[in-house]
Amino acid sequence: MVILKNFTKYFHQGSVNEVLALNRVSLEVGQGDFVTVIGSNGAGKSTLLNGLAGTFFPDQGSLTLNETDISSWPEHRRAKFIGRVFQNPLLGTCASLSIEQNMALAAKRGRTRGLGIGVRARNRAVFIEELKKLDLGLEDRFKVGVGLLSGGQRQALTMLMATMVRPELLLLDEHTAALDPKTAQQILGITQDIVDRQSLTTLMVTHNMNQALKLGNRLIMLHRGEIILDIRDEEKRKLRVDDLVARFYEVQGEAFTSDRMLLA
Ligand SMILES: Nc1ncnc2c1ncn2[C@@H]1O[C@H](COP(=O)(O)OP(=O)(O)OP(=O)(O)O)[C@@H](O)[C@H]1O
Ligand SMILES: [Mg+2]
Repeated sequence: MVILKNFTKYFHQGSVNEVLALNRVSLEVGQGDFVTVIGSNGAGKSTLLNGLAGTFFPDQGSLTLNETDISSWPEHRRAKFIGRVFQNPLLGTCASLSIEQNMALAAKRGRTRGLGIGVRARNRAVFIEELKKLDLGLEDRFKVGVGLLSGGQRQALTMLMATMVRPELLLLDEHTAALDPKTAQQILGITQDIVDRQSLTTLMVTHNMNQALKLGNRLIMLHRGEIILDIRDEEKRKLRVDDLVARFYEVQGEAFTSDRMLLA
């Protein structure tokens, strides 16, 4: 369970460039909820995820994760409980290490990290099983440097690594946006599998409204740092892209036509 109360974040507060990126956001995300997050450019989606991950401390408000107030916890402390995947496939893995070594590092998350990145035989078997589930043939390239993989393969591996030690919260920030449509579909399938298998509490930012409708049991729309739509379960299943487009027009008017949401 994630609880945000009056969560507020300014950038450049007090200067001419002041931006109120999150405006007293209050949100409760239940255990196992899969929330898709939409909103136009600059709406505050990434800031919301960064605030949860502890990239910055809020100017106001609090954050509770599974009954512990973690508002003052630094990012590295939260990283033990929070898995993240970003848009850039290069960010989640280390190019100069093999798939095996990357997975060994991920398996140590939340535990005291040793100096080496040795892989025990027991772990190796588990890693190979996990890779097989991806159905990308990565198990046959176990010793290959991750730098040689495609963006999609890397993103699939990043998904595995972010969830290898079960996170209390999974944050996905447009994690398929840099991929071609077919590969994006593949990664979404993998995402759905992993989230379902582990019943992960998940927030997924996307610009693609079809994705936002198809995945998850709840959808929120941000606009100028505020949640302006929060729809779940049956109501979400009935929701159509047209409904979302109408809502966007309502809040943005003509500015909406220039948003890259339309291109998704
Ligand atoms: N590090 C930063 N310094 C200054 N301003 C920032 C910073 N990060 C975000 N902002 C501003 O805060 C607002 C929200 O940005 P954010 O990145 O959260 O939007 P977003 O919804 O993720 O948009 P996009 O769809 O373009 O990714 C924007 O006005 C942005 O310019
Ligand atoms: Mg963003």
